[in-house]
Amino acid sequence: MLHVQNLVKTFDGERRRRSHAADRDRARVFAVNDISFEVENGSLFTLLGPSGCGKTTTLRSVAGLERPDSGTIKVGDRVLFAGQAGGKPVNVPANERGLGMVFQSYAIWPHMTVFDNVAFPLQVKKRATRPPKKEIAERVMRVLQTMELADLADRQATKLSGGQQQRLALARALVIEPPLLLLDEPLSNLDAKLRESLRYELKRLQRELGITSVYVTHDQVEALVLSTSIAVMKAGNVMQLGRPREIYENPNCRFVAEFIGTSNFIAGTVAERENGRYVVNTADGPLVLDSAVTVPPGTDVVVSIRPEAVEVSTTSRSGEVPNEWTGNVLTRAFLGEAVDHVVAVGRHEIRARGNPSVSIEPGTEVHLRMDPSKLTLVPVD
Ligand SMILES: Nc1ncnc2c1ncn2[C@@H]1O[C@H](COP(=O)(O)OP(=O)(O)OP(=O)(O)O)[C@@H](O)[C@H]1O
Ligand SMILES: [Mg+2]
Repeated sequence: MLHVQNLVKTFDGERRRRSHAADRDRARVFAVNDISFEVENGSLFTLLGPSGCGKTTTLRSVAGLERPDSGTIKVGDRVLFAGQAGGKPVNVPANERGLGMVFQSYAIWPHMTVFDNVAFPLQVKKRATRPPKKEIAERVMRVLQTMELADLADRQATKLSGGQQQRLALARALVIEPPLLLLDEPLSNLDAKLRESLRYELKRLQRELGITSVYVTHDQVEALVLSTSIAVMKAGNVMQLGRPREIYENPNCRFVAEFIGTSNFIAGTVAERENGRYVVNTADGPLVLDSAVTVPPGTDVVVSIRPEAVEVSTTSRSGEVPNEWTGNVLTRAFLGEAVDHVVAVGRHEIRARGNPSVSIEPGTEVHLRMDPSKLTLVPVD
């Protein structure tokens, strides 16, 4: 289990001409401002929040790539970092922490084959802890099989698709069998389709192998899909910590509500699935959607759709197109390049974002259309 307690990390802010001690203090940036969390064995914990809120700094502190100002970081009983408060300072160097890491810019080694990329972290271990050659080969092939890369073992790493390179980066982190895997926006370089399928692959792997992981993202849907629990961060602070369902059903403050609420979430139950097309029953009628993931009928899910994927119209095309819901405009907001309408449909309030040429008075009856390929299935435990 990972314990992070009262973690604080500041950086030098802007340089001032006159550097009084007080000025220097004020100029510091509190990238991480006293946060605490615990990650249970075998679970996936997500740090979620907008750009600059301190996610990467937190992860780098756990990895040993940043030196925190104060706080404690432990894996099980092993202290990785302890600030001055309460005893002797400890700061285990990054390379002795034994953690697996995958970063947004996954650095695979281009001059090596797939196999050698994965074998490398084992080959560079100190002689005393380095496994014999035969064992290295076995472990590498096992991980490559799990990541469905075994057939490509001899291929040059640069001759892989984006998704394969991403899986290779994961394979390399997994091969050392780390007690803790740290992932910083590992899927952000990929296109939407690949991201969706890798998201589920990652979740399956994480569950199957029971890898304790800390995952960083600014994408709420990704966080909901993957996480056992989520910490929503703002400006160096944890605003709310909980299971995905708690966070989207009961946000504890306006910031969390708005940050999570930029997507629409509609709870339902999978009714049927045929050729990758699902029907999900919700309180306000069925929704049809396409998804590559496998979720059996009867499963409780959340269907998510981004506001920009909801089309608002005063004319109905019912019967011609799937997923047309009828409701009344509650509010409308001009955002410059777009207009937001919040529409009440039965028990739901659905946010639609569209071209400013479509602007509809509150109180008007409208029809919302949701493209099956733009609805995302979020299994929520
Ligand atoms: N080396 C540094 N020197 C000074 N300030 C830094 C440094 N690294 C990060 N910061 C600041 O600390 C804050 C937190 O940065 P961090 O990289 O942790 O954010 P983040 O949540 O990962 O954001 P993003 O989603 O954009 O990656 C930001 O205000 C950032 O400008
Ligand atoms: Mg970051």
